[in-house]
Amino acid sequence: RLSTKMSKPSVYVTRQINQEALDLLKQHCEVSSWTGPGPVPKTELLKNIENKHALLCMLTDRVDAEVLNKAGANLKVVATMSVGYDHLDTAEIRKRNIKIGYTPDALTDATAELAVGLLLTTSRRLLEAAEEARTGGWQAWSPFWMCGRGLKGSTVGIVGFGRIGQQIARILSTFNPSRILYYNRSERAKEAREIGAERVTFDELLARSDFVSVSAALTPETTRMFDRAAFGKMKKTAVFVNTSRGGLVDQEALVEALRNGTIWGAGLDVTTPEPLPLDHPLFGLKNCVVLPHIGSAAIETRNEMGIVTARNIIAALNGDAMPFELVV
Ligand code: DGY
Repeated sequence: RLSTKMSKPSVYVTRQINQEALDLLKQHCEVSSWTGPGPVPKTELLKNIENKHALLCMLTDRVDAEVLNKAGANLKVVATMSVGYDHLDTAEIRKRNIKIGYTPDALTDATAELAVGLLLTTSRRLLEAAEEARTGGWQAWSPFWMCGRGLKGSTVGIVGFGRIGQQIARILSTFNPSRILYYNRSERAKEAREIGAERVTFDELLARSDFVSVSAALTPETTRMFDRAAFGKMKKTAVFVNTSRGGLVDQEALVEALRNGTIWGAGLDVTTPEPLPLDHPLFGLKNCVVLPHIGSAAIETRNEMGIVTARNIIAALNGDAMPFELVV
């Protein structure tokens, strides 16, 4: 019997996502998903993407010409459940007139909260101190034991003054630093005025900041911008925090800077590679705190990211304006 019903467009989902987002997708699309543990293996992705109209992916999925060729002419939209898009070959996607969706606003607050938490964990040596308490290093109260670095009166430097960088600056401003500097490709005059931040060059930010917090996208221009020369320009007392992408940092140079006392400490939510191998020297350094890329890992945030990603797909397939289309 011939069906008179129009068939729904098809979407491949590379991970198990929240039910609400999945239900939303299922109202509009035929959904198939990778349900195995961890990221979808490339071979599976290549097998399953064939003839699909949409791809819902994660930052762990590299979407390149091979994947796009395999998908073929049906593919209309690639929507990533992330704000970062360095895993997408945007030039190859654009070339094929495929739309790109991402999830900026949803994770701004959660990521900024984590960045500030990581900064304080590093600057006030929270993990080291908790370990001392647990293992008998805690003796009588002592005036200069376990001292870290305070924010009050300090100079805070924000590298990448987009949504997340601005929110980090806003939260940190409540700790009463004496000034907030930012380095950004373009000027953000209105937001900077409201927050009380001053735009400076990268070198000036490095030289003047007591805290350097990185929240910039990984692009060819930002790749390894924190190299040996950059760490060398920072204060010996500086705390470095990266919640964006590991690729912005030359990790060997960072290890060296932490070992030699070129800088005072580092808090990293992102590394190269991820996960960071257990025998990596960064894990052996007391002045380094490493977190497993949990910037946006708040339950409501991840749910919202899933829903926004589903909405991006549905809008693109319907030919409507996407809630968050990436235009690069
Ligand atoms: C992103 O969205 O790019 C973060 O790194 C993870 O939420």
